[in-house]
Amino acid sequence: MSRVILGIESSCDETGVGLVRLHDDGAVELLADEVASSVEQHARFGGVVPEVASRAHLEAMRPTAERAFATAGLALSDVDAIAVTAGPGLAGALLVGVSAAKAYAAALDVPLYGVNHLAGHIAVDTLQHGPLPKPCLAMLVSGGHTQLLRVDDIAGEITEIGSTVDDAAGEAYDKVARVLGLPYPGGPPIDKAAREGNPTAIDFPRGMTGPRDAKFDFSFSGLKTAVARWVETAERRGEEIPVNDVAASFQEAVADVLTAKAVRAAKEMGIGTLVISGGVAANSRLSCLARERCEAAGIELRVPRPRLCTDNGAMIAALGAHVVAAEKKPSALDLSANPALPV
Ligand code: KG4
Ligand code: ZN
Repeated sequence: MSRVILGIESSCDETGVGLVRLHDDGAVELLADEVASSVEQHARFGGVVPEVASRAHLEAMRPTAERAFATAGLALSDVDAIAVTAGPGLAGALLVGVSAAKAYAAALDVPLYGVNHLAGHIAVDTLQHGPLPKPCLAMLVSGGHTQLLRVDDIAGEITEIGSTVDDAAGEAYDKVARVLGLPYPGGPPIDKAAREGNPTAIDFPRGMTGPRDAKFDFSFSGLKTAVARWVETAERRGEEIPVNDVAASFQEAVADVLTAKAVRAAKEMGIGTLVISGGVAANSRLSCLARERCEAAGIELRVPRPRLCTDNGAMIAALGAHVVAAEKKPSALDLSANPALPV
């Protein structure tokens, strides 16, 4: 008897509602993945404004859920379990999703599972590429996170082996875009500009790659400052900024550090599969360099399609399905959001 899992995501600026079917053999099938984004409301501030995000979630939650059920051709009464992002994320934003999930769980009398957003970013890959090998290594690169995680069991055994000590990779993209006069969020326009630029034009620093630096940690604030300084100096000299070259050289530095550390971690830990997920995983140079380096090292690379990499409800439904399959204990109905929830 297969089961339908509803997933609700509201940790940042995306209201996501997903539906998946957990089959008896453990396979998880995607039925619906509806997302409403408030990103345009934040664009003029150059970053997510928590109050604006919470209000947008409140308005979007119900219509987004209705769209998901319509797409899947299911009714509320078909749901067998509910998973919701309990953290990490913005407190007010998380609370909207958690409250909605609790209401659905109480009304439908089905179990509720508060789950981790970061684990969701990894679990989503199973919707596209099937079960995850145990163990596997995951690199999460988004606007809020940059982490290397060892995944022994997606339903609960995940260990952080490295993370950024300052800015997240996506945050660096967003800040550099602002310096270059490109729109927010900065990842896509930098990716595009970089295609017309020379990645070796400027030798930007590769943070945390010195012999005494923590092996699997990252740092992007020095790189961001180096780009800002380079641009300032050129402006002071009255030179025109070669936006495409700066974008390409910055992007090369980010992709180089991320892929070098991930491959090194996989090799040192004897892990044969690397999953890259989160918004920055959509970056064309990152996936290309990761593919090259993984192939050379004999590591299987899995990158979910861009739509699944950014925040969505399907990733939470997928994780919920794995938690249900593992027969984990449901959360109590007094579940609360935890903005700093660790993996
Ligand atoms: O995972 P995500 O949608 O949201 C969270 O932060 O959780 O990631 C958003 C981040 C933004 O910083 C955006 O600039 C970055 O992902 N991003 C990219 C690309 N597309 C989105 N960064 C580099 N290249 C891209 N193509
Ligand atoms: Zn995310």
